[in-house]
Amino acid sequence: MALWAIGDFHLSFGVDKPMDRFGRVWKNHEKKIKKNFKKYVWENDVTVITGDHSWGHNLAECALDLRFIEALPGRKILLRGNHDMFWDAKKTAKLNEQFAGRLEFLQNNFFAYKDYALVGTKGYCYEGKDSYEHFLKIRDREMKRLQLSFDAATAAGYSKFILFLHYPPTSIGEQSSPFTEIAEWYGVEQVVYSHCHGRDRFDDSFKGEVNGIMYRLVSADYTNFKPVALTSETWEDI
Ligand SMILES: [Fe+2]
Ligand SMILES: [Fe+2]
Repeated sequence: MALWAIGDFHLSFGVDKPMDRFGRVWKNHEKKIKKNFKKYVWENDVTVITGDHSWGHNLAECALDLRFIEALPGRKILLRGNHDMFWDAKKTAKLNEQFAGRLEFLQNNFFAYKDYALVGTKGYCYEGKDSYEHFLKIRDREMKRLQLSFDAATAAGYSKFILFLHYPPTSIGEQSSPFTEIAEWYGVEQVVYSHCHGRDRFDDSFKGEVNGIMYRLVSADYTNFKPVALTSETWEDI
């Protein structure tokens, strides 16, 4: 039972939004995703998919995209990205009911993987697209949501954590943020994020070990559409 992560499928089976306009790497990207999942991920594995699942604006427009994700091997836990308009954070419990046994939605809750709690939220970093005051407001809201995820996990007795964010944990140039601080406070082992696309953005935030935490960027175009193994026992206990 291995643990994998990948983010930003940006599927568009239900709407007209071909991804190859964003570069050759995105040509037939859904075929690469399917092929890599079939090659690497087993039915009893767990994959956390870190947001930006679909270009659809609502559940109806996302239905084919979510069905595509559902059909990939193993258990799939989804995180919210900035483009996931189908997912109202306040209605996550309803999504979990609706997709029970097919997909799981990580927001204000946690999921267990062995003795780890998988916690997470969308996160936020400053990209110069909004006012700094607005950025602080959104970041604060995301921190509250993340705290709810940690609270649920600790209340259930978990003390080992892997943290998933959609946005990078820091804004460009920052050496710490409320997200890295809370990760250090809880002794999180890994922080996994995506959102960054294209070579110019892959170094926006931490990659590798910082203050004892392993930071991993798993944007699909960064990993060449292959899920990233988060655990070392990937093959041994299948
Ligand atoms: Fe994205
Ligand atoms: Fe994104």
